[in-house]
Amino acid sequence: MRDRFGRQINYLRISVTDKCNLRCVYCMPVEGLPWIPKEELLTDDEIVAVVGAFARLGVERLRITGGEPTVRPGLVDLVRRLRAIPGIWDVALSTNGVLLPSMAEDLKRAGINRVNISLDTLREDRFERIARRPVRFYRQILEGIAVAEAVGFDPLKINVVVMRGINDDEIPDLAEITRERAWHVRFIEVMPVGANLDLAEAFISSDEMLERVRSLGETEPVPGPIGNGPARYYRFPGAPGTLGVITPLTHNYCMRCNRVRLLADGQVRTCLFGTHQVDLRAAVRTGEPIEPLILQALAEKPERHYLQPGSDVGSGGLRALSEVGG
Ligand code: 5AD
Ligand code: SF4
Repeated sequence: MRDRFGRQINYLRISVTDKCNLRCVYCMPVEGLPWIPKEELLTDDEIVAVVGAFARLGVERLRITGGEPTVRPGLVDLVRRLRAIPGIWDVALSTNGVLLPSMAEDLKRAGINRVNISLDTLREDRFERIARRPVRFYRQILEGIAVAEAVGFDPLKINVVVMRGINDDEIPDLAEITRERAWHVRFIEVMPVGANLDLAEAFISSDEMLERVRSLGETEPVPGPIGNGPARYYRFPGAPGTLGVITPLTHNYCMRCNRVRLLADGQVRTCLFGTHQVDLRAAVRTGEPIEPLILQALAEKPERHYLQPGSDVGSGGLRALSEVGG
């Protein structure tokens, strides 16, 4: 599958729920969002049918996202079915880690090869301010990371959304960890959406993040762990882990885009930002062919996004990334 700019699309991100058990400041309002009504959510059977169509068109790799995907009932079973679709050979998971202590092993067995875990602070006393949930969730996340390592998820990517005055002073500690552990720590620029515009002043560019990392010692650019992502990676010489930056605002990487998104309610979005979407739910429910609709969506895939720090104009009316799977 190629789009009109010649980009090969072989990667599908599937948001399996819009709900979450945390309320990270850059993502969800404390009160939550207007959740998608249950009857509008794709069932497991419907997701499997839709992904089958994507696979026939050339999608080979999946990432399960949310919201928080592990809160979807029956996720392990769904993963097993997705992994069994002909042509799909890589299924990854993005999670906040809270439920990994009890689920990591089953997810591994069901066919998840790799996980990305969000960890915005190493300081327990900061967790409540960032995730707006009690600190016991933080302890579960740390245990979740340990269990993820123990069951053999490799590579293990740790996502850090960097915010000035909130966790930016932890860049050194989060970077230094890669000298000891085989973590791939990725520092992410805050993307402005409707629900987080109060964070405009907290924006830090990836150049500034890297400057702070480099003051800790020499780094070398490296290709980075396997994955499909837009991150650029570096390593302290000899370190087991790497450091990455994800730069949606300051260094556009849309020309390397390889992905489309399936939302929990059955819409296909060809860009994280922008309102263009094509509905697959009606077709999958009436048994109409899905491939033509996917191709129709792809024909409209925009060349790039036009996000600017501090404004949600370029986000196309998005309230939160949890609506579209990050
Ligand atoms: N800006 C940057 N990253 C975000 N994430 C969620 N919302 C935002 C935002 N507004 C990140 C989460 C997670 C990944 C799926 O997306 O921290 O690591
Ligand atoms: Fe939940 Fe992830 Fe959003 Fe945090 S960033 S509230 S963990 S969906």
